[in-house]
Amino acid sequence: MAAEHYPVMLDEAVAALALGGAERVVDATFGGGGHARGILRRLGSRGALLGVDRDPEAAARAAALAEEDRRFTFRPGAYDEVLEGLVVEGEKVDAVLFDLGLSSYQVDEAGRGFSYVREGPLDMRMDPERGASAADFLNGAEAQEIANVLVRYGDVPRVEARRVAREIVRRRPLGTTVELSETVRAAVGWKERGGNPSKRVFQAVRVYVNDELGGLERALGAAEKLLVPGGRLVAITFHSGEDRMVKRFISEREGRCVCPPELPVCSCGARPIFRRGVIRKPSARENEENPRSGSARLRSAVRTAEPLGAVAPPGETL
Ligand SMILES: C[S@@+](CC[C@H](N)C(=O)[O-])C[C@H]1O[C@@H](n2cnc3c(N)ncnc32)[C@H](O)[C@@H]1O
Repeated sequence: MAAEHYPVMLDEAVAALALGGAERVVDATFGGGGHARGILRRLGSRGALLGVDRDPEAAARAAALAEEDRRFTFRPGAYDEVLEGLVVEGEKVDAVLFDLGLSSYQVDEAGRGFSYVREGPLDMRMDPERGASAADFLNGAEAQEIANVLVRYGDVPRVEARRVAREIVRRRPLGTTVELSETVRAAVGWKERGGNPSKRVFQAVRVYVNDELGGLERALGAAEKLLVPGGRLVAITFHSGEDRMVKRFISEREGRCVCPPELPVCSCGARPIFRRGVIRKPSARENEENPRSGSARLRSAVRTAEPLGAVAPPGETL
């Protein structure tokens, strides 16, 4: 039975969303609804919150919240597809929140295959009805491809990634999470420092299987189109790949002037689409109460009034 999900950096996220009462807000990662409930507490009676999640179990929890609170609605699906759909519908919103990664409901339920300490099928799909499972990938891919995934999405050192990939190929077919953990252990052993090596391997396979970085890049692009001038983008990240992506997305849109300092006026066409907002880490107290929050980073940005069409792609001048 999964423990309740503890919403990470809840106060910081709600503060960064800067809610005054009547906003239209998107919680792109509804999960257990912890952030959604925090947002609803701050929204006035004319505000509206749309929850999104690709996990059918999150959808069931969202249905219960929609019954309780008429300001809340839910759309099931991948957040990039839902947000792109809103753009096509001509919607505009005041704030978008991404609380990335997995909920405790998903990690703690052995049957979903996300946990490297609980035995379950090697699945790891957030939407179990869509796409290839972790087992499909690991039992079918070349060793080189598996090693690349471990390096790219789990920051596994290349030498270790190659060893793990070769051991996976030697032992397959793999069917359970425990078989994968044992394979990792056989390939690279257990290190006193750096923790259980399965952690990064499981993270890498999960990120790959769910196309997490591709989806995030598309979703950020859609959020940029959806936000009104002054609209807030808030993202809580948990690993270096997604944090780098959010950081780069914001910094590429800050429109920093790259004119030589001797030019009296800007001629490079720098026009910020976002202004960078707060960057926060969880407090020491939150870390202690919820060790899963340890790697979290909150990044935020505020949409300017600059129209998207008039902006030069990063690195180019108009
Ligand atoms: C960390 S949890 C969110 C927890 C939530 N903020 C709360 O307080 O309960 C992340 C959620 O995002 C969902 N998710 C991850 N990637 C997604 C995507 N590409 N599209 C839609 N939902 C996604 C997961 O299924 C999971 O339920």
